[in-house]
Amino acid sequence: MENIIREYKKSETGIHILIFETKKSLYSQAMTSLFKSLSSREYTNVGLATGKTYERFYDILSNYSIKNKFSFSKISSFNLDEYVGIPNDDTCSYHYFMRNHLFSKIDLKESFIPDGNSEDLKKSAMAYEHQIASHGGIDIQYLGLGINGHIGFNEPGTPFDSRTHIAELAESTIRENSVYFDGNQVPKKAITMGIGTILDAKRIVLIATGESKSKIVKQTLDGSIEEKIPATALRLHQDATLLLDRDAGSLII
Ligand code: GLP
Repeated sequence: MENIIREYKKSETGIHILIFETKKSLYSQAMTSLFKSLSSREYTNVGLATGKTYERFYDILSNYSIKNKFSFSKISSFNLDEYVGIPNDDTCSYHYFMRNHLFSKIDLKESFIPDGNSEDLKKSAMAYEHQIASHGGIDIQYLGLGINGHIGFNEPGTPFDSRTHIAELAESTIRENSVYFDGNQVPKKAITMGIGTILDAKRIVLIATGESKSKIVKQTLDGSIEEKIPATALRLHQDATLLLDRDAGSLII
């Protein structure tokens, strides 16, 4: 494989780590492997993430599929999370993010995102679990990584067996995400797949880039497996892969 600085498996678990020289080679590897599995019909239900990390991934993915006339018409997508109380057409919502970066460019069969505007949020969280289960579960779940170790909006302290639920955002997450809110208040709550929901996916791929993620990447892989660092739960999964660029992997090279 091209441009890989280090590739290894953590011995106690099945977690597979790939560190790439450049972001470009990381995203190109992520895309090639996704298209391979989509073409062979290995995946029909794909779990998607948002955040800066995924902007580039979705750009590359949509450009490639437009150029190669690749159809997603048999694929369903399930997003990890959404803010509570932000209208779907607000530019800060994850509904908007997904439409803008991906859904308006490819022909997915259907796409699901948790509903953060329901009158009964608990009911909509349960309905989301039901939607995933009735489709037969998620084949591959993509994740980003918060600098406090959150996955989706599962903040430190979230039980590893949690299902889709309403989460209180950590102060650090509110601070981190405020750049997207242009001076407006960041919501304090979100609806997110739980860690248990994420661990049910057949395969998990976490992408992290940039120096700001290097410390939490090291803690995720080398610290003890505990709820204080939600991403350490990935070490309990049989088929999880971490794709890192040189900067994010700098403390474990
Ligand atoms: C956000 C999202 C996560 C995302 C993470 C990293 O708060 N809820 O799903 O993976 O933080 O975001 P970024 O890629 O912008 O660093």
